[in-house]
Amino acid sequence: MAGPTPTLRLIPLIPAMIPLAAEIHRAAFGAESWDAKSLGEILAMPGAQGRFAVDGGDQPLGFLLSLHILDTAELLTLAIDPTHQRHGIGTILVRNFLENAKHSGGTNAFLEVAADNIAAISLYKREGFVHEGYRRDYYHRGCNIRVDAYVFCHRLAQI
Ligand SMILES: CC(C)(COP(=O)(O)OP(=O)(O)OC[C@H]1O[C@@H](n2cnc3c(N)ncnc32)[C@H](O)[C@@H]1OP(=O)(O)O)[C@@H](O)C(=O)NCCC(=O)NCCS
Repeated sequence: MAGPTPTLRLIPLIPAMIPLAAEIHRAAFGAESWDAKSLGEILAMPGAQGRFAVDGGDQPLGFLLSLHILDTAELLTLAIDPTHQRHGIGTILVRNFLENAKHSGGTNAFLEVAADNIAAISLYKREGFVHEGYRRDYYHRGCNIRVDAYVFCHRLAQI
């Protein structure tokens, strides 16, 4: 893996950046992407937080959206621009999510990921998430194809 650009910074994802986030989401998820309206509604939810990864020229590279309620943090979505994948940016965003969750009093983090998403599963496992359950046929891929979601959890005391 090539390392992330040395000038990479994480900045709060504010509503004005939602259109950029939607572009990255579309590039990363294709037909399963969330549009700007959906992303904006999520960011407006109580407890929602977003982090954008940008390079030295403020070019957006990826983002993570999460929801923090009482002692539980949920990683809602993570998307890295395909031309910047496999450079460690997803890892940086996930670590930042876990640290923020812990510092704001969280004890547990969780997420759902498609059972066939080898890249994301490998990243989450490496960062300490543990597979704890399933949601059968959770994702619809068209043509009657359905894919299970894996539920992964992280005990934040471990970091
Ligand atoms: C999954 C995703 C977020 C990973 O982000 P990234 O910045 O490319 O990941 P990193 O460079 O930090 O990779 C960390 C580790 O994840 C795993 N990984 C990442 N991409 C991978 C790939 N294409 N194939 C296999 N493993 C992969 C590897 O273990 C990698 O470590 P390594 O490069 O040392 O082998 C990114 O590929 C993406 O946006 N995918 C499309 C959207 C998506 O699936 N989001 C997650 C949904 S829950």
